[in-house]
Amino acid sequence: MKIVILIASPSRNGTVSQLASAYAGGAREAGHEVTELFLADLSIRPCAACGRCIEAGRCVVRDDIAKVEAALEGADKVVFATPTHYGNFSAPLLNTLERLVGFLVDKRVFPPKPRTLRGKRAAALVACAAPWPFNRLLGHSSGCAARLREVCKQAGLAFEGVLVAPGTGRPGFSIEKHAEKARRMGAST
Ligand SMILES: Cc1cc2nc3c(=O)[nH]c(=O)nc-3n(C[C@H](O)[C@H](O)[C@H](O)COP(=O)(O)O)c2cc1C
Repeated sequence: MKIVILIASPSRNGTVSQLASAYAGGAREAGHEVTELFLADLSIRPCAACGRCIEAGRCVVRDDIAKVEAALEGADKVVFATPTHYGNFSAPLLNTLERLVGFLVDKRVFPPKPRTLRGKRAAALVACAAPWPFNRLLGHSSGCAARLREVCKQAGLAFEGVLVAPGTGRPGFSIEKHAEKARRMGAST
């Protein structure tokens, strides 16, 4: 299976990047082909809402969004790896998803229909500073997961679940157990 991980943290060695790397390691051990895209490395301009992607089926601005499209085109599964920012996924991921709207969703019809990734699979790796159980009760990681579910619904992706690492930066937080869960998640995909 071809798996694409969209890493939407600004930190190369932060919690999210470590979860993504553990997931990728597990998936590769299981024989899957994994592409990790670190969004902060890419130059992706904000969506201009020109609407030309509706007919074109992809954004007409050909910056590094082309690299994301090329990776996603042959993917069987997309993994969204993101920190929680304001109870949502991070801005680099929203920016990327906005630029992908004509590629992911056919808006020539109403209601809009899933396009390129219809029927493919998705999962998420999420980190947040809010500790358990407040990450869920107060809508931090749960808000982020809910919004990713909505993206998947519109894109026609089957959302298989989210691994959350809560309480990052707090005394006693340890990445190891979360990374091991991410590795197992990747290995069993
Ligand atoms: C701009 C910004 C907004 C944040 N908003 C939230 C939030 O709403 N809830 C939360 O629990 N953590 C929030 N955090 C904390 C991050 O989710 C947390 O530090 C996470 O571990 C970052 O992972 P990373 O270092 O791998 O990017 C925020 C951090 C930043 C920089």
